[in-house]
Amino acid sequence: MDLHMSEDFQIVAIDGGAASGKSSTARGVAGAAHFLHVDTGSHYRAVTLRALGEGLRPVGGPALEHFLAGLRFETEVRGNCACLRLNGVVPDAADIRSDAVNAAVSAFAALPAVRKAVRTYQRDQAAVARTHGFRGLVMDGRDIGTVIFPDADLKIYLEADASTRAARRKDEGQTDTIDDRDRIDSTRATAPLAAAPDAVRIDNSNIPLGGVVEEVLRLLRQGASATGASRATEPR
Ligand code: DC
Repeated sequence: MDLHMSEDFQIVAIDGGAASGKSSTARGVAGAAHFLHVDTGSHYRAVTLRALGEGLRPVGGPALEHFLAGLRFETEVRGNCACLRLNGVVPDAADIRSDAVNAAVSAFAALPAVRKAVRTYQRDQAAVARTHGFRGLVMDGRDIGTVIFPDADLKIYLEADASTRAARRKDEGQTDTIDDRDRIDSTRATAPLAAAPDAVRIDNSNIPLGGVVEEVLRLLRQGASATGASRATEPR
């Protein structure tokens, strides 16, 4: 597909609550636009899985600091996906989506020390994408448009009604405490789940995935041509 986009590298931030369709949308956009996709939820999940394995509880303090200081964050690019390699291992997808991780991840992700530990790694993903020859980066999470890339070229905030989101998790065979996670994620003090003021809100309750991906690609094209237009009219 010819997107008629500018040659400039672009960053798309997609935020939203649990099961709002962020990762599926981001994956679709990445495939169509030759962008690198980064699912930041998987970062918090991988850290949580490892912390639980070491018997840690989600509280700040020396034990948590010691644990975080021992983490090594690297990226393994698989197709369009940037997978986190934590201390030399890309964790198994099923393990980071287990009931135990679902139940604990929001509490770990609310800890300022945990957020600080992943922040630089997440911002560095733009350089990873450029190095691997991608035309852009599409990152999904809760604070991408507000904290990680506040200057993103395009910010999307995805929403879906509660029954649609619950049905999605059921279809995936997952038991997930969506409401509890959304409550913790949106009320925490550090980098809460929030729509950036300049985000485009899309309610995808009644739009199929392909339609949402097309809409994001359309907004990207529009943004690219708007940038081109403003450049063309700039005084020399
Ligand atoms: O996207 P997900 O449901 O896999 O995310 C799992 C948890 O990770 C989510 O409940 C909160 C946390 N998270 C976060 O705090 N900030 C992000 N940018 C992404 C995820």
